[in-house]
Amino acid sequence: MSGEDLIARRRRLLGRHVTTFYEEPFAPVRGEGVWLYDREGRPHLDCYNNVPHVGHCHPRVVDAIARQTATLNVHTRYVHDLILDYGERLTARLGGGLSAMIMVCTGSEANDVALRMAEAVTGNRGFIGTDNTYHGNTSAVSQLNARKVPVGGFGDHVRKVPAPDNLAPIGGSPEKQAEAFCAEVETAIADLQASPHGFAGLILCPYFANEGFPTLPRGFLDRTVEAVHLAGGLVIADEVQPGFGRLGSHFWGHERLGFTPDIVTMGKPMANGYPAAAVVTRPEILEAFQEQFRYFNTFGGNPVAAAAALATLQVIEDEGLQENARDVGGYLLARLCEIGARHEVVADVRGAGMFLGLELMEDDRPATASCARLVNEMRRRGVLVHSAGRHDHILKIRPPLVFSRENADLLADTLEAALGEAL
Ligand SMILES: Cc1ncc(COP(=O)(O)O)c(C=O)c1O
Repeated sequence: MSGEDLIARRRRLLGRHVTTFYEEPFAPVRGEGVWLYDREGRPHLDCYNNVPHVGHCHPRVVDAIARQTATLNVHTRYVHDLILDYGERLTARLGGGLSAMIMVCTGSEANDVALRMAEAVTGNRGFIGTDNTYHGNTSAVSQLNARKVPVGGFGDHVRKVPAPDNLAPIGGSPEKQAEAFCAEVETAIADLQASPHGFAGLILCPYFANEGFPTLPRGFLDRTVEAVHLAGGLVIADEVQPGFGRLGSHFWGHERLGFTPDIVTMGKPMANGYPAAAVVTRPEILEAFQEQFRYFNTFGGNPVAAAAALATLQVIEDEGLQENARDVGGYLLARLCEIGARHEVVADVRGAGMFLGLELMEDDRPATASCARLVNEMRRRGVLVHSAGRHDHILKIRPPLVFSRENADLLADTLEAALGEAL
């Protein structure tokens, strides 16, 4: 069947708004490590997928899933040791008393549970998020999204504060940004406290990934976290994108910024593509949640999900992938900076570990169309990247953690050539 037939079938069955990343949609049939292969067997360098965190079809994860599927798969009303083995290993990677876990299937569910935990603890319903984010697709979590307005409009129980930014920092300068962000949060807290909703908590990605991952100093959120706690609210760190060693220097985004959240949510990379996600918190918060809500998740944390997540965590540790993210990420960042210096359209190069980006501007305006052209040109050249940010003008690079320096060179050389061709 031709690519065009596939697109027509997809539209008919899945709806015409179902997204495809590229003008010429990509239909891989096989994946291995950092490579995705189309039906002609042409390899494409995957520089965007954060779900196959330890590499596409990693043999140890595949084996763990296959063996457990062939042995037993039941829901969590039955007692099984794998979820406990995983939970103990996972929580050992988090400090601050974060020692209790609920496993779910998606990041959306994890954030939905986290919001309800904050509601249960505080008795309030008011939340604060940033004005340019995405935390998932449940009815409650959609209230925090930036782009699509829910039917009936955004609820009055949500306040959105400006997201930090590199080129247009809140407060007018990078030095004033932390204070300005905190002031925005404090205003939102006061506003919610004066409303019938009260204040339950602040949810944010500690790398501000969907916001365009601005460069923030360690301690950036210290005052904000203090203000939230002073007001009796909880801080929820959505680690769906930065977690599990991607940032190289630290295992978690919040660890890199140097604060301890009350609740941590995680998903995408957690089981290398098998649907697994989790909420980790302090035991008393989990207790309050379970007293308030009767929560059961049929597939969440089943033995296969736990086996896949456990194998993924073991691979990250055994193969030193956080260290690889730091080493190769640093090398790639240096190459991207060199390229950026040669091309006027590149206004900023930034990021950490295996999560890097180039912000593109033309005549002081976000270069949205140019970024799209660049993304498509790279895809034609067999290198898969995509865009992020408020105006989709930031080239986002976020490969599996098994990315090598050789892969980084191929990406950088292709980018240089594509910049010349597309812009
Ligand atoms: C920061 C963040 N949180 C949560 C989610 C939702 O995760 P899921 O698609 O697994 O529901 C996403 C998905 O893109 C995300 O980027």
